[in-house]
Amino acid sequence: MHLLFPHLTTERLQLREVTYHDARALLDALGDINVMRHFGAPVCRTKEDVYELIDLYHTNWGERTGLRFSITVKPRDRAIGLVGLHSWNHALHQADVACLLARAHWGHGYMQEALQAVIQYGFEQMKLERLRALVEPPNLNSRKLFARLDFHEVGRLNDGGVVYVEMVRTSERKRVP
Ligand SMILES: CC(C)(COP(=O)(O)OP(=O)(O)OC[C@H]1O[C@@H](n2cnc3c(N)ncnc32)[C@H](O)[C@@H]1OP(=O)(O)O)[C@@H](O)C(=O)NCCC(=O)NCCS
Repeated sequence: MHLLFPHLTTERLQLREVTYHDARALLDALGDINVMRHFGAPVCRTKEDVYELIDLYHTNWGERTGLRFSITVKPRDRAIGLVGLHSWNHALHQADVACLLARAHWGHGYMQEALQAVIQYGFEQMKLERLRALVEPPNLNSRKLFARLDFHEVGRLNDGGVVYVEMVRTSERKRVP
C-alpha cells in the first residue's frame, strides 16, 4: 500500500488530500444545514470546526482506516466538497463511502465523476472487494447517485437509532467465482 496520499484526476476534477487551506471553502458545504441534514456529522459553524474534521481525516489516513479527498474543478484549486472512504476493514477488504458537495455545485454530475475515480482506486489500488454506502431513506439524491454507480440496496440497518439504507457495490474480482 502506498505511503503517499493519492492524487486522482478525472475529465473535469482533481481529487487531492484535504488540507487546512480548504477550511474556508469547505464551510460552504459543512456549514449548510441543507447539505448536512443526512451527512451524519454536526453542522460546522466556524473554520475551527472544519479544522477538527480535517484532523480526524488526517488521523484516519495515518491509521489507514480511511482517506478523504477535497474535490476541485479544474483549473481552480478551490474545494467544492469532499469524497472518500472510511471504516476501511483490511481483513474483509471493505470500506464505506462518504461524499458531499456545496449546494451550488449539485446537479452537474461532479460527484458521480469523483466517485467513479474513488471506486476505481479502491478496487484497483486498495484491493477492496466491497464498498458500502449508508444512506438515510429520505436522502433521495444520494440513493439515486449510488444506484447510478451500480450500488444495490441490500437492506436496512439501524445504527444507534438512525435507520440507513445499506447500498453495496462489489468488485469484478469478487463477482468472478
Ligand atoms: C450526494 C450529493 C453529492 C449528490 O449531488 P448531485 O448533484 O445529485 O450528484 P452529481 O454531482 O453526481 O450530479 C448528478 C446530477 O447532475 C446532473 N448532471 C448534469 N450534468 C451532468 C454530467 N455532465 N454528468 C452526469 N450528470 C450530470 C444529473 O442528471 C443529476 O441530476 P438529477 O439527479 O436531477 O438527475 C449531494 O446531494 C450532497 O452533497 N448531499 C448532501 C450530503 C449527503 O447527503 N451525502 C451522502 C451521505 S450518504
